Parts: sequence; C-alpha cells; structure tokens
Amino acid sequence: MDEKIEQLKQEAAEVIRKHAATLTELNDIRVRYLGKKGEITNLLRSLGQLSQEDRPRVGQIVNTARVQLEALIAQKNAELKARELADRLSSEEIDITLPGRMQPVGHLHPLTLTQNRIKNIFMDMGFTVEEGPEIERDYFNFEALNLPKDHPARDMQDSFYITDEILMRTQTSPVQARTMQAHEPNAPIRMIAPGRVYRRDDYDATHSPMFTQVEGLVIDRGISLADLKGTLELFLHKIFNPDVGVRFRPSFFPFTEPSAEVDISCVMCHGKGCRVCKGTGWLEILGAGMVHPHVLEMSGYDPHQVSGFAFGLGVERIAMLSYGIDDLRLFYDNDLRFLRQF
Ligand code: DAH
Repeated sequence: MDEKIEQLKQEAAEVIRKHAATLTELNDIRVRYLGKKGEITNLLRSLGQLSQEDRPRVGQIVNTARVQLEALIAQKNAELKARELADRLSSEEIDITLPGRMQPVGHLHPLTLTQNRIKNIFMDMGFTVEEGPEIERDYFNFEALNLPKDHPARDMQDSFYITDEILMRTQTSPVQARTMQAHEPNAPIRMIAPGRVYRRDDYDATHSPMFTQVEGLVIDRGISLADLKGTLELFLHKIFNPDVGVRFRPSFFPFTEPSAEVDISCVMCHGKGCRVCKGTGWLEILGAGMVHPHVLEMSGYDPHQVSGFAFGLGVERIAMLSYGIDDLRLFYDNDLRFLRQF
C-alpha cells in the first residue's frame, strides 16, 4: 500500500510538471488525481478496508501526498498564469514607433471659398444672406420678376420643368420677390442670396447646365443709381483688386429699369486685349439695374415711396478669373489633383 501511494504521488507529480502546458490541462490533471473520483481520493476511500492499526498511518501518508500534490498544482497554476499574462503582454504590445494612420483632411471647394469671399464683402456692408429653394415656382422665377408667360426673355433661360408651374430655378432672382414678400411692405432690404441655378445648356469650358449665382437686392427710401454704382464698384475692387477698371454698359433685364451690364478691365492682360477678353480689354462680370417699379408693386412695395437696385453675378466666373482657371468643368469633376491646389 505504502509503495502504491508513493508511486501514484510520483506519477502525479511528474504529470503536473511535464504535461500541464495550459491552465485547462492542469485542471484536468487535478480532477484526475484529486477530484471526487480522482485516484488519490479513491485511495482515501479505500482506507476502510485496512486493519485498525494500519489505517491512521496509511491515512496520514495519503493525506501528506494529497497536500503535497495540491501545493504542486498551486505552484504550477501560478506559473502558468504568469506565463499566459506574459504571452498576452508581448503579443498585444503596441509599437509606438510605427507611423500613424493618416486621416485625410479635406477643405473647402474653390467655389465655396469664392462664395464665402463674396458673402464676407457684402456682410461687411451690412447685407443679410438669404436663401431660396432650387426647385422654384414659375411665379417667383419669372412672373413676379416681370416675365409673364409669353415674355420672349424667357427663351434665354430655358429650364428643367417639373410641372408647368414648378421648375429648377434658372436664376437666384426669385429670392428678390420672396424676400420682399417676407417683409412688411416698404421695409428696407439689404440682402444677397447665393445658390445654385439650372438651365438647359451645353456642358463645355464656359457653359454648364448647373452653376452658382449670387443675387443682390437693396431697397429703401431714396436709393439711386449712385448707390448701385458705388456698391458694385467697391465690391469689384475688393474681390479683384483696387486698381481694376469698372464700367457700366446699358443693357436690358425685364426686372430692372434702367439695366446695366458691368465689366471689369481684363485681369489677364490689364486692358491691353488678349484671348480671355477676346481683344476688348474688358470682361463682363455681372448684371444689375434699378428695380422695376412693377416688380416692387407685385411684391407689395410702393414704387412712389421706395426704390432699389438689384444685381446678379456668376460665382464660377469670378472664381475662374481670380484663380486663372480656363475650364469651368474643373469645378465639377472632383479631380483631387485640381482641388488640392486651393
Ligand atoms: N438674373 C440675371 C441672370 O441670371 C442676372 C441679373 C441681372 C440679376 C440683373 C439681377 C439684375 O438682379 O438686376 O442673367
């Protein structure tokens, strides 16, 4: 019996030392020897078969063996735990010398940058910034701007119609009527309205069926052509440079009377004449005029009490001239080689 116990203890110790590679394996071994039906436990149970005088002695030997094995298991358990932790620490180690993952950071589109510059210049002059819908009613886009259904000037702004009465706006001018109608009659207005507009058009270096405009409207008592000229000249000197030449040519728009087209001296050749200005030395930059009395009336303003001026400019054109871009389509291609330059 004594020998058998000693043998079993040696065997168990050997197995614990050599064959417990993981905590799970170690637990299996513990169950095999010390569990409820384990081999050492079975020995303790069989003590009953021994004689009275052998029982305490053998019992003590078995118990000692059990205690020793338990100690051995506890030691191995600690060892394995330490090793698993060390393994985890080394496999999950973060190499802080590796280069970081770059988060690409975008920036504002050149058209947005140009629009923001335009906005800032007018906000400095006390203008508010208004908005109108891109899907617009025929009434605001044409009718309220003195362009009744049969007006020939409608032909220049062929649009995308959604129904007979609803279209993609062809200009930002409808925001003029919307702003007047949102105010008390004759209340002063000093606003700009930037936004996208749509026309049935070609898509080439200078045309696009979608582009961006900024509308302007000033109404108050005693507003005159001098205010229009002074405001637009100041704007053009700020957006281009203070030396740029500005000229006003008589023109026609149904919603202004008189109307003007405004040119700046060519920013490429400084007025000498080149390809960009087609040899004229001048570049057409915006349309403007004194608000037509009928337009004021239709939106509830009294042309005998107040007067106003309005203007509309193309953001793409200003951006092309400020940055020296010769193809409009570059703004819409989303080519990063182009966009990264701004
Ligand atoms: N809406 C005109 C266009 O798209 C531009 C324009 C001209 C706007 C004269 C105005 C203006 O407010 O007074 O061609």
